[in-house]
Amino acid sequence: MSIRTLVNPNAREILDAPVPDRAPLRFHRRLPGYGETPLVDAPGIAESLGVGKVLVKDESNRLGLPAFKVLGASWAVYRALEERLPGGEGFGGWGAVEELRERIAPLRPLDLVAATDGNHGRALARVAGLLGLGAKIFVPEDMAAARREAIAGEGAEVIVVRGTYDEAVERSAEEAGEHGLVVSDMSWPGYERIPGWVIEGYSTMLWEIDDQLERRGEAGPDLAVVQVGVGAFAAAVTRHFRSPVRSQHPKLLGVEPAGADCLLESVAAGRIVPVPGPHDSIMAGLNCGRPSLVAWPAVSGGVDVLVAVDDGPAREAMRLTAASGIVSGETGAAGLGGLLELLRGGGSRGREEARRALGVGGESRVLLFNCEGATDPDGYRRVMAGAG
Ligand SMILES: Cc1ncc(COP(=O)(O)O)c(C=O)c1O
Repeated sequence: MSIRTLVNPNAREILDAPVPDRAPLRFHRRLPGYGETPLVDAPGIAESLGVGKVLVKDESNRLGLPAFKVLGASWAVYRALEERLPGGEGFGGWGAVEELRERIAPLRPLDLVAATDGNHGRALARVAGLLGLGAKIFVPEDMAAARREAIAGEGAEVIVVRGTYDEAVERSAEEAGEHGLVVSDMSWPGYERIPGWVIEGYSTMLWEIDDQLERRGEAGPDLAVVQVGVGAFAAAVTRHFRSPVRSQHPKLLGVEPAGADCLLESVAAGRIVPVPGPHDSIMAGLNCGRPSLVAWPAVSGGVDVLVAVDDGPAREAMRLTAASGIVSGETGAAGLGGLLELLRGGGSRGREEARRALGVGGESRVLLFNCEGATDPDGYRRVMAGAG
C-alpha cells in the first residue's frame, strides 16, 4: 500500500476569514425530516488507531439522503433563489417549504443544474423536487449505475458526459440553458457566490457537533480528519475549527485518493494546479482534479497535513466502521483509511514528519466524518465480503 504525505508549511491555527454563523442550521431545522445526525463514540476504531477516543459524525442519513451534501445544496439554492425574487425583498419570515414553493412561482420555469460525482447531484435533485423545480445533472461516464439511478430516481434529467468529473463540470456550466441555475460545489473565476453558500451550508453539521459535545460536557477534538474532493467540505471544517472565536483549534488532516490528490499537489505548488485524469478511485466523491477556488484560501491556509492513499485503506476502513455498527461507503470511510495508513508503525520520513505535525497519541480525541453511507450497495457488499 502506498501513501503520500505533505505537511502544509502555510497552515495557521487561526484563519483570517469571516466567522461562520448559525443561519444555515436555523434554515435546515425548518426542512421536512430534519434531525441532528448521530455523533457516535467508536471505541473499537479508537483501539485500532491507538488513540484515546474516536467520535464519528455519522451522515449516512441526512434529511433522508445517504450523505451530508444536501446541507450545502439546500442552503445554496435558498440563498440564490432569495436573491432572484422580484422586488429584492428576500423570503422574510416563513414556516414551511410549501411557502417557499409559492414564493418562487415567478421564477419558474427553472432548472437546478450541476455536475456531480454522485452525492451533490442527488442532493440538488432532491431540493429541486421539494421546491417544484426541474433538475439537470451532469455525471461522468464511469459513475456506478446505482448512483446514477438514484439521481434519476429523484426526478432529475441525468446527462452522461464522456470524461471525468471535471469535464462534467465544464459541460454543466456550458449547457445550463436559459432557464438553468447552476448550483455547483465547485467554483472557478467568476463563479464563486453559489459555491461559497454550499460551503456555508455544510456548517450545520459542525454546529451540531459543538452542541452534541456541549450537552455531553465533553471537550472538542484534538484532531479532525476530512475527506477532500474539490475541498468545499474541508473549507467548511477548516473555517469552523480555525475560527478566531473558538478557544480550541484541533489539528486538521485532509485525505485524498492517490491519482486525484489535487489539494496535496496544489498546496505543494503554492497555487491551484490540476491533476489530470483518469480519476478512478472507488472513493468516488473524491475523484476531483482541481480544488475549488472559493475553498482554496481556507484549505491551503488551514489544513495541517494532507495524505493521498490508494483504495486499500478505504476498504479496510469500511469494514472497520461496519464492525462498530456504522454503514460507511467508500468516500465515507476514506478519512479513517487515510489516518489508519498514516499511523501504521514505521514508514518513511514523510510519514513520521506528518505524524509529528499532527501530534496524535494515546490520549488524542479524534473526530471522523462518515460523510456517506452505502451509496453503491453492490460495491459495499463486495467490500464487506472481503473483495471489491
Ligand atoms: C460524501 C462525500 N464526502 C466528501 C466529498 C468531498 O467534498 P468536496 O468535494 O467538497 O471536497 C464528497 C464530494 O462529492 C462527497 O460526496
